[in-house]
Amino acid sequence: MIPRWRFPGLRMLPCLAELAAPLWSQVPIPAAELAKLPPPLTRPVDFKTEVYPLFKAACFKCHGAEKQKGKYRMDTREGAFKVTGDHGPAIQAGKSTQSAVILMAAGLIDEMLMPPPGGKPGESDPLTREQISLLRGWIDQGANWPDGPIAEVITPVRFDPDIRKLLSEACARCHSGASAEGGFSMESLERVLAGGKSYGKVVAPGDPKKSSLLTILAGKDEDIPKPESHRIADKGLKQVEEWIRQGAK
Ligand code: HEC
Ligand code: HEC
Repeated sequence: MIPRWRFPGLRMLPCLAELAAPLWSQVPIPAAELAKLPPPLTRPVDFKTEVYPLFKAACFKCHGAEKQKGKYRMDTREGAFKVTGDHGPAIQAGKSTQSAVILMAAGLIDEMLMPPPGGKPGESDPLTREQISLLRGWIDQGANWPDGPIAEVITPVRFDPDIRKLLSEACARCHSGASAEGGFSMESLERVLAGGKSYGKVVAPGDPKKSSLLTILAGKDEDIPKPESHRIADKGLKQVEEWIRQGAK
């Protein structure tokens, strides 16, 4: 089959006057819209530790090894740089304002906000301006993406200081000192692992699925008193989950 982008079609006619007209059929975005994009970061952006983890968290659920929505797969270099159906190259090295991933993440293409809205809370949050600046910086700096599989960079999450800080803010007022509610205290790793009087252990090190703490913090435990005091923001929830996955140390 002849790829569609070789035949730009009638709507490209106004652009043919410009010598720089691209070969693919890319719906042009008005300059005034492009001007609203968050500016690219000027400091060097690192692909492995900054860009790949962001794509992984925000996009791979639908564009990874398991699902390729819109026939787009972005966990490999080859897939990520594809020329999209209607909006030009997904990633164009050196040209962030002509890269569909930026235009879509910023909501500049009708009905193509990525990630799409309307998923579960926390799963489809739009990228922040800072994240778009980061991605623009990376693309404008050449969109470096080494060949081959990307070795995962896992940031260790430990009780000290990460989880202690989180639980101090969210739980200490009811779960520390002599009057810790339900006998559950967040004051030390040992106490958190010991659990509470009626729930018993709420953390199964290495096994997030068996850790009822995550159900409680997600606001999904129907028996906990004051459920609203127990629900924490999604970012914190993910951190606690990662901490448990890494062995709850
Ligand atoms: C919840 C699922 C979901 C998530 C998460 C998601 N997408 Fe999509 N994406 C889609 C769907 C569905 C389509 C096809 C939409 C259509 O064609 O109408 C699509 C299409 C695209 C396309 C166009 C592909 C083509 O060839 O036309 C690009 C580029 C894209 N997404 C980028 C991203 C980026 C970048 C992210 C992360 C910031 C992301 N998507 C996150 C569901 C998702
Ligand atoms: C406003 C006070 C309050 C806050 C804040 C709070 N809790 Fe609770 N928590 C309670 C009460 C009340 C109970 C029920 C105690 C009982 O049954 O005697 C409880 C019970 C629990 C239990 C079950 C203990 C048992 O009985 O086995 C766990 C685990 C727990 N909370 C964890 C947390 C965590 C983690 C946080 C922080 C994200 C938190 N709680 C925040 C008041 C609070």
